[in-house]
Amino acid sequence: QRNLRGRDFLTLADFSSEEIHWLLQHALNLKRMQQEGIPHPYLQGKVLGMIFEKPSTRTRVSFEVGMIQLGGQAIFLGKQDIQLSRGESLYDTANVLSRYVDGVMIRTFSHQGLVEFARAATVPVINGLTDTHHPAQVLADLLTILEHKGRLQGLKLAYVGDGNNMAHSLLEGAVKVGMHIAVASPEGYEPDAAIVAGAEEVAKETGSQVLITHDPVEAVQEADVVVTDVWASMGQEAEQAQRETVFKPYQVNAELCQHAKSDYLFLHCLPAHRGEEVTADIIDDPHSVVFDEAENRLHAQKALLSALMR
Ligand code: CP
Ligand code: NVA
Repeated sequence: QRNLRGRDFLTLADFSSEEIHWLLQHALNLKRMQQEGIPHPYLQGKVLGMIFEKPSTRTRVSFEVGMIQLGGQAIFLGKQDIQLSRGESLYDTANVLSRYVDGVMIRTFSHQGLVEFARAATVPVINGLTDTHHPAQVLADLLTILEHKGRLQGLKLAYVGDGNNMAHSLLEGAVKVGMHIAVASPEGYEPDAAIVAGAEEVAKETGSQVLITHDPVEAVQEADVVVTDVWASMGQEAEQAQRETVFKPYQVNAELCQHAKSDYLFLHCLPAHRGEEVTADIIDDPHSVVFDEAENRLHAQKALLSALMR
């Protein structure tokens, strides 16, 4: 834990298997404490700045509530409300905010922009989603799978859809905890080759298998966990109609889920478009744990915040 204090949380690839397992255990403890009404003011007097360049429901509320439950506070900084919208650089913004707050969570477009922001900041910086990564979400996803399955090692996770931020962070996170991962995407929408190569390297050490395919049935075959995400992410609204055509064969529906294990879990980071990437019957099915997953954003991030900012 001492090793985590002061660190940035930009991708799961930056964290060791032991650190991820520690964060998950810490999250389970914090969740139990919250449920039993045991105070845990580990961040008393600390303030988190939260920059949002894209909309958010879960990320904003879970980080803000998490800080309050830890005895601290959070400040919402919408892009339009700060000078970032008038061209002040990320470098200057990071330097200035570092003089006021004890940590910054940022949701932005360019991952490189996040990296530059974190380099300039002198306080821990947490990735609240970029175009290519969503590690805070995947920490909550791993917590949800662990709670429902009692283990992570050796389980197979199938991700069907766009090779986007969720696909990348799931690849990076799954191999760290010894889960097998299969990603099925249409041609031209595969996950980034460098991220896949990095995951394959880690997989050699942890015993995970990584499969990248264009065939959703092959990916979902015997899966313990089935995951999907929207076809058009934030910032890709103009591509919505074209993507609907390309991704149609990648819809997660009852027919596809028949290929998964009989006790499979369905996860979706939300927001979902029912009838597009997933049918309503699947998201409302008992196999679906999407609302536990959303809740676990809170507990996983409290573990993260208290480890980095204590
Ligand atoms: N899953 C997720 O990050 O949701 P929001 O966009 O609502 O924060
Ligand atoms: N891939 C989606 C995830 C939303 C939480 C997006 O980037 O919009």
